[in-house]
Parts: sequence; C-alpha cells; structure tokens
Amino acid sequence: MEEMQQLGVILLAAGQGTRMRSALPKVLHHLGGKPLFLHALGTAQRLKPKSVAVIIGHGAEAVRQVYCGSDIDWRVQEQQLGTGHAVLTAKPAFADFTGDLLILSGDVPLIRQATLKAMVEHHRRSGAALTLLTASLENPKGYGRILRAGDGKITGTVEEKDASEAQRQLREVNAGIYVASARFLFAALSAVKNNNQQGEYYLPDIVTIGLAQGKIIETLQVDNPREMMGVNTREELAFMEKTLRESINKKWLLAGVTLKDPDTTYIDESVTIGKDTVIGPNTQLYGKTVIGERCRIDGSAYLTDAEIADDVHIRFSVVMASCRVEQGAVIGPFAHLRPGTALGPNVHIGNFVEAKEAKLGAGTKANHLTYLGDVTIGQDTNIGAGTITCNYDGFQKYKSKIGDRVQVGSDTTLVAPITLGDDVYVATASTVRHDIPAGALVFNQREEKVREGWTEQKRKQMKGKQK
Ligand code: UD1
Ligand code: CA
Repeated sequence: MEEMQQLGVILLAAGQGTRMRSALPKVLHHLGGKPLFLHALGTAQRLKPKSVAVIIGHGAEAVRQVYCGSDIDWRVQEQQLGTGHAVLTAKPAFADFTGDLLILSGDVPLIRQATLKAMVEHHRRSGAALTLLTASLENPKGYGRILRAGDGKITGTVEEKDASEAQRQLREVNAGIYVASARFLFAALSAVKNNNQQGEYYLPDIVTIGLAQGKIIETLQVDNPREMMGVNTREELAFMEKTLRESINKKWLLAGVTLKDPDTTYIDESVTIGKDTVIGPNTQLYGKTVIGERCRIDGSAYLTDAEIADDVHIRFSVVMASCRVEQGAVIGPFAHLRPGTALGPNVHIGNFVEAKEAKLGAGTKANHLTYLGDVTIGQDTNIGAGTITCNYDGFQKYKSKIGDRVQVGSDTTLVAPITLGDDVYVATASTVRHDIPAGALVFNQREEKVREGWTEQKRKQMKGKQK
C-alpha cells in the first residue's frame, strides 16, 4: 500500500472513562476477548502507516503493558485536558512529518479498515486540510453534532453539553475519527481554546479554525453507523459485545459452520473453525482456539487456546485450556482438560475425567471418573474407572509413564514417579508403588473373607439396641 506510506496514526487512549465507573482505565476493558483500544489500533495498523503514536494517561503503564510489540510511539498526556490537548501531546512524535495523520479514539472499536482507507483517499482527492468521519444517528445523544450551512457545507461542530436545544435535534454526529494534514493539525491545535462547558480543549474545534483560515474541510458519512459507535458506559460495552459477537457468528455461519443457537455462542475474533462443524448452545470458544472440520460440540463447552483436529466429538459440558486433540477423539460429557494435555487420534475421554499435562496415545481410553496428571500413556491402553495418578506428595510433582495396550483395572492408584511397561495388567483396586515390567500382572495381596448370614444378625442386634 504505497500511498499509505505518508500516513501517520494517532490513537487517543488517555482518558479515564469516568462513565464506566471503574478503577480500570476504559481502554483496558475487554471487548471480544481483548482490551478495547487494541481493536482500533489493530485496524489502523493494517493500513501500514509510517508510524503510530498512542496517547496514554490514565493507567498509562498498564495500558502500555498489554501491547506486545515495539512499534508504538507511546506519548503520555499527564493531565487529560481534552481531545485537542491529547493530540497535541503527539506533536513531538511527528516533528518532521509532512504527510497526513489519521486520528482515532481508543473507545471506537468497530471501525472498519475500508472506511479508514476511504477517508484517507477522500481527503487526498479533495485536497482537504481536514476530513471528519460523520454518521447520521437515530439517537445522537452524547455525540458532538455537525453544524452545516444552508448549502450543506460544514460550518463547525458542537458538543452535546454545549449545544442549544435546536442543535441537539441534529442527527448528524462527529464520529471522532479524522484525517488531517500534520502541518495544519498542529498549527490549528495551538489556537484551540477551552472556553466551553467542560473547560476542555476540543479537537473538533479545529474545524472552525480551519474554515477561518480558508482551508478545505471535508466530511465523509459512514453507511453503517454501528462501526462508529463509541463505548462510554458499561451498557454500551455490553451492546458492542453483542454486536461484535453477532458479526463473528455470522462470519462462521457464512463459512459453513452450524451454530445451533447463535444467541448463546461466544467466539473470540482470534478463533478459527473448519467447515461442517456443528456447535451446540452455550459454547464459548476463546483465545487461539482452532477447531477442525466436521467436529461436533454438543454444548456448554468452554474452550480456551484449544487445538482440535477434524472429526472430534466434544460432548456436553467440557472445559479445555491449552490442549491439543487429534482426529476422531471423543471427549466428555463433563470432562476437564487442563493445560499441557495432548490426546492422540481416536482417544476417548469420558465423564468426570480430569487431565493435566497428560499425553495419551492413539486409541487410548479413560472413560470414567479418573485423574490423569503429569502422565504419558501409550496407544490402545485402557484406563479403568476411578484410576488416579498420585502425582503430588504435598511437596513436589512426579511423572507417570504407562505403555501401550496396558489394562489398568478400576479403582487403581498409581503412585508417581512410576513406569508401567507395555502390556501390563493392573488388577482392580491396586495401589501400585513400583515400576512394573512389560507384560506383567500387578495386584495387591488382600484376603477376601465372607461371613454368611452376617447382615441378618447385625440387623437383629441393632433392633435390640433401639428398644
Ligand atoms: C468525542 C468528541 C465528540 C464525538 C465523540 C465520538 C471531542 C471533544 N468530542 O466525544 O465530538 O462525537 O468523541 O465518539 O473530541 N481522551 C484523551 N485525553 C483527553 C480526553 C480524551 O486521550 O484529555 C481520549 C479518550 O480516552 C477517548 C477519546 O479521547 O479514547 C475520546 O474521548 P471521550 O471523552 O470519550 O470523548 P467523547 O465525549 O466521546
Ligand atoms: Ca467517547
């Protein structure tokens, strides 16, 4: 994108967000699984600008911390004296810059790359000093209004708090996104005053300043006002979350994924899903989760950073985090796969099974009531109901290793560190404390005693006592 070379970006993210009533800076509240300001920032970065300055202030250090990368010129606005003052903070970052600056708000997350590109193009084509993005809203409350003359030309802007009753009726609002020539911008900003209701230096005041200088001021209206919505309150954040979720769900529906109930399906932007996968109600897919083709997720699943191959069946109520699952595996209902778990092809994990740092080879089954922690298991092994790897003695964690084709009987405790060779047979109700060589049977010697007629005798005895 050659023409975007002479583009710089300024993102405003210094405000506290008073209306959020939060100890957390507004731009750190999460939307679609990531901090609010990273949405607009990511979109602007896709235009490949020459440089990007982010204005921070409230919780500056915390805001800076959530960004991984070193390509941002962070500028601290010590006191939040208004949007105009905020942009001025970026002046030193663009001292020798003669191109155009795209100014965005950290709290306007759904703005599309195509809209920003169209703004820059319009700005350049019309030879404007400043171009504002506007929108016509059913309910313009809270936004700054665009003032126009009889011939339709923009004459200025007015903030809601400064607006007259008649001006408040105007539906066309300032989206808070601008393209300006850098030279014009910083010169105009030094002329902005704070004689308004809020005592702030308003960035949009450069409209009237520019007009007085005879500059060309352009506006561009967005088709879909949803993309310019700002987040000022938690109610708006929740609404935005819903809007974003709907658009993500729509994307996957169009891509060939069945969502049985899109209203209760939550998918982060960073997730990918293969086609002909069927997802049931109340499914939450977060982080870097990748789901293959033809998978079935029955419902009430909570998956974070899970890598699922094709044809996997995740039955009702499964929680997974940082796991890998190969093709054809069946998991659940009611299973918990914790970080470091890797299931080979066609593995079966059944109800009430918890796994952590557990590697299971192809075709291995652990179908009922089991804890598999810090364990490597070979292929075609069967882990009986109620098996527990005792991996922790209160001080340290220990590893277990179980071979191929092993039969672990029900109610077995394996005291780690321990190795069971291939084809080992563990008798039911065994506590195994030592390594077992391949092909061996292991059982605990216990005497089984039977007392005939004992129950009846006991009952009589108890009845006698009650009298
Ligand atoms: C602003 C516009 C308004 C527009 C609306 C669109 C002004 C004066 N008003 O109002 O015309 O309709 O956006 O969403 O510009 N910020 C700083 N430093 C400051 C003040 C604000 O960095 O000193 C940042 C905030 O963190 C936020 C952005 O600038 O990301 C916008 O500030 P906000 O107070 O939300 O402005 P609005 O009242 O929404
Ligand atoms: Ca705002």
